[in-house]
Amino acid sequence: MLRIEQLTKKFGSNTAVDAATIEVDRPMMIGIIGRSGAGKSTLLRMLNRLTDHTSGSVTFEGRDVTALRGADKRAWQADCAMIFQQFNLVPRMDVVSNVLHGTLNRRSTLATMFNLFPTEDIHRAIDILDRLGIADHAPKRAEALSGGQQQRVAIARALMQDPKIILADEPIASLDPMNAQIVMDALRRIHEEDGRTVIANLHTLDTARRYCDRVIGMLHGRIVFDGRPEQLTTGAARDIYGADASFSEEATSTQLDAVGRASNVATVPA
Ligand SMILES: Nc1ncnc2c1ncn2[C@@H]1O[C@H](COP(=O)(O)OP(=O)(O)OP(=O)(O)O)[C@@H](O)[C@H]1O
Ligand SMILES: [Mg+2]
Repeated sequence: MLRIEQLTKKFGSNTAVDAATIEVDRPMMIGIIGRSGAGKSTLLRMLNRLTDHTSGSVTFEGRDVTALRGADKRAWQADCAMIFQQFNLVPRMDVVSNVLHGTLNRRSTLATMFNLFPTEDIHRAIDILDRLGIADHAPKRAEALSGGQQQRVAIARALMQDPKIILADEPIASLDPMNAQIVMDALRRIHEEDGRTVIANLHTLDTARRYCDRVIGMLHGRIVFDGRPEQLTTGAARDIYGADASFSEEATSTQLDAVGRASNVATVPA
């Protein structure tokens, strides 16, 4: 289905992603973990073609997606919709219009300029919001919603594109534990019910373990772990985070940054 081979990204002399090879042969939910700067975001951005790769390849259903241009590239970007830590909604626009923006790449410029959305798309947007438990908020401005609600709007916008893959770059890093759980539950449900693959960069080990079928660990741009959550022992996790014996499973990637040691502060309750 999805085959990432020797994918590499260099920024000058810094190799952000170093010959990453990942094969996804069926829909699954994958968590990518690793310290700050490990290359997690760069990897997702290359998959979605937001960042150009330096070498290697990404093949989806037999087609090399790193070579796509123009409309083909936009179609691929719709097939692997991306959601971000900061939601990236238009704050002053109402929720349903934000969701409808997920259809922009298949609409004419004129229709877009006048905010003319087909009725069937509006109904679909409301159905998707309903599925995510936020249809009541459809007429409100996005900025009036809580972080967890805004992230669900971003997920709804992604679903409008009917993507095969959802790429999520730290989708819960700005949320409190309760909203984080609601958003992760929503992603898990979308994977299970729709058969979409979800690839999420996660800043806690705990979340990766709880929600994912497969965990990929990155360190200095390289994939140093790829296995099932139960294979991810504390020792393996310590290697991924490059941390010493004080490593705490609850620590976040940010806390594990720079010094390469785990801090003892646990900010994310299990
Ligand atoms: N646009 C850029 N220009 C130059 N260097 C970059 C750029 N984007 C990322 N890098 C570098 O590439 C490396 C990987 O960064 P990346 O953002 O992918 O890490 P990350 O694992 O997502 O970290 P975090 O957990 O902090 O989000 C880092 O050394 C970073 O400084
Ligand atoms: Mg990142």
